[in-house]
Amino acid sequence: MENALLCLNVTIIDRMNTFYVTTPIYYANSVPHLGHLYTMIVADAVARHKRQQGIETYFLTGTDEHGINIERAAQRAGRTPKEQADYVVSYFKKMTSEFGLDENHGGYDIFMRTSEPFHYQGVSEFWRRAARAKTPKGNDAIYKGHYEGWFCAACAAYKTEDEYAKPKAPGEPPTCLVHDTPLDRVSEESYFFRLSDYAESLLALYESRPDFVRPESRNNEVTSFVRGGLQDLSVSRLKTSVSWGIPVPDDPDHTMYVWFDALTNYITAIGFGNEERERVAGFEKFWPALHIVGKDILRFHAVYWPAFLMAAGLEQPRGIVAHGMWVDANGRKMSKTLGNTVELDVLNRHFPIDAIRYFCLRDMVFGQDGKFSYEALIDRTNSDLASGLGNLSSRTLTMISRYCKGTVPSPVIAEDKLLQAKRSGIDTDETTISGFIAHARDQFVQQFESLAFSRSLEIAWSIVARIDKMISDAKPWELAKDENQKQTLGAVLYRAAETLRWLCVMLYPIMPAATLEIWSQLGLSDSGSPAQSDPEKLNWGDLSRGKAIGEVKPLFPRIDKGKTMTEINGQERQAGAGVRSDKASGKVQSPQITGTAGVPPAVSAQREPGEHPHGVHATEADAVPASPNAPQTQPPPPMHHATEADAVPAAEGVTGFIDITDFAKVELRVGEVLTAACIPKADKLLLLSVDIGEDQPRQILAGIAQYYEPDQLVGRKIAVVANLKPRKMRGYESQGMLLAASVGDEGKPVIATFTEDVPNGARLK
Ligand code: MSP
Repeated sequence: MENALLCLNVTIIDRMNTFYVTTPIYYANSVPHLGHLYTMIVADAVARHKRQQGIETYFLTGTDEHGINIERAAQRAGRTPKEQADYVVSYFKKMTSEFGLDENHGGYDIFMRTSEPFHYQGVSEFWRRAARAKTPKGNDAIYKGHYEGWFCAACAAYKTEDEYAKPKAPGEPPTCLVHDTPLDRVSEESYFFRLSDYAESLLALYESRPDFVRPESRNNEVTSFVRGGLQDLSVSRLKTSVSWGIPVPDDPDHTMYVWFDALTNYITAIGFGNEERERVAGFEKFWPALHIVGKDILRFHAVYWPAFLMAAGLEQPRGIVAHGMWVDANGRKMSKTLGNTVELDVLNRHFPIDAIRYFCLRDMVFGQDGKFSYEALIDRTNSDLASGLGNLSSRTLTMISRYCKGTVPSPVIAEDKLLQAKRSGIDTDETTISGFIAHARDQFVQQFESLAFSRSLEIAWSIVARIDKMISDAKPWELAKDENQKQTLGAVLYRAAETLRWLCVMLYPIMPAATLEIWSQLGLSDSGSPAQSDPEKLNWGDLSRGKAIGEVKPLFPRIDKGKTMTEINGQERQAGAGVRSDKASGKVQSPQITGTAGVPPAVSAQREPGEHPHGVHATEADAVPASPNAPQTQPPPPMHHATEADAVPAAEGVTGFIDITDFAKVELRVGEVLTAACIPKADKLLLLSVDIGEDQPRQILAGIAQYYEPDQLVGRKIAVVANLKPRKMRGYESQGMLLAASVGDEGKPVIATFTEDVPNGARLK
């Protein structure tokens, strides 16, 4: 759970004048896929956030071009290793350009290539320093010896007995547990790095800087690996075995181990060991870096790299953050070797870039593995972006255009109009809404800086829901008909427009193109840019009234799920990609379909511009999807997992059973509590907003205030009766009911919950 990250309670991105963030440099043996794109998106969002704060930021990505893996890929393709690297780099550059991650789109500052001459120079200097160094135990840090063991070319790693599978047949080599490919036997002279002498220093480092490796679970993993004892590391290969590598200084018969070469890129890129490069970027200025990596390569970054830096006498990184993997339906890491990747061309053809960015950060709980499915991506895009942010933006701007002659109205309601405004259902105290939004913004930033992106976006979307509700409650299209309500109308639309301005700034790092577009539609193109606005410095009311808005254009068109899936299935079959192809049926399968959210009914042609397309929240009657069969009473639903088999006819003489069809009338869904609050003068009730996988969270009242603190509930997964007729209590509409056991004589409620991770909106049956 993301809570594991949250409970670190550490602000990962601290404040200094400069900030340096890196992705891994990717192997130049095969073309990029969603996994590579994901790390880039995370690092790009972090870099943009730092730039918004006015901090000089340097963002590195690139390719790792040496080693046996690249040499073999080149041989297979009939290319030289350098040609192979150039070929793969062209695909990575295509990815960064098409997905808006390169320097032309405000993304990376350097696409680092380890075949760069300045890198050769810097790595050689780094090696020399390490070779001169003594370990903490007074031994030579690098020494010559003989290596005997197994090596996985795809991992570029030596494998110990517990890291490979036994040979499939006698005489065959063992296979890599990660890649399922045969290992190479290595038996040759080699330089060794005396890693075994660094165990205590590494443990001291982890202990003194508990946030050096994050999340905490990964920190524990690394610590126990080091506690288990470290073996010296072979850091060279004979040139006769691996010729495509950087020569060991003063011993050209050896080339450097590719990880020694690759890790050092983080400092050579900014000028270590090369004065000219130092002038261009600045090792002194930017080091140390925050390394964002997949958990697959954590050991290299959190054990080997710090030890190499210790030997070379250089400062340790700012931190190492390991994210989870996109995995296939069988839980295997998406990778080219396994042929189970999500292709970038398919993504690019069918989805807006910002929808992909949003999905990656919203759906993958940072630090955990995530299963990808196109269906989930379509659902998210339709519910959160088309119907959520996109709809809020277009309804607000269309109404300003239609009812306010296309200029931002004044938020002020004169004294003599206040009573009327109140009667129309708006809170005349603007600070209620601005206070809510400022508080949400603070939480958003806090979560973002802890790299809890998914949570931060949930918080941002609570703002979207709140403003949507404000509009639906106030019904500007009705206000516009009444001359006396012009100021009320203005106040509502001003609040919505000002909120959009805030959302642009908050969400810019996640969705740069969409937020810049909304910014321009708000008529703000000449008033700075979200790219340079610090979300923490937003000031409510800075949106100038009287300013002309820009042209209103749709932002995220709805994606036709059936049509798009048919097209994707066809393309995937043609491309022969493995991730979702069910070989037997030839049909693309989703490894995971999350919930049933996001397929709301079509927009009515007669609708007023601001009306919510789904009618939710507008009135009591349409607050819940109308279902002619919805039960009018509240049956206490059985909480066990009922199946057809359970629905045996009632035994003779036993009364009180219901038929399975009765039970089927009750729509039970998994919900996640987004917010919880007490209700003034109602000491038993809590007001919850619960995400049950629909476009908008449900507002649910629960009589549990005497037993649960609101804070205890936020983030909890609960079971919700979703098709209960809405009803009003204490002036609040309740759009569902949560399930709880009733315990003891006093009927103490104990909320029903889940011990496993379940997607919001999943049906209980
Ligand atoms: N060349 C080394 C890294 C050297 S860094 C000094 C390497 N390259 S790689 O091409 O295999 O890239 C691995 C990284 O790509 C992962 O750590 C992660 O950042 C990203 N991903 C590759 N596949 C991924 C998934 N299936 N899911 C998420 N990220 C993945 O290792």
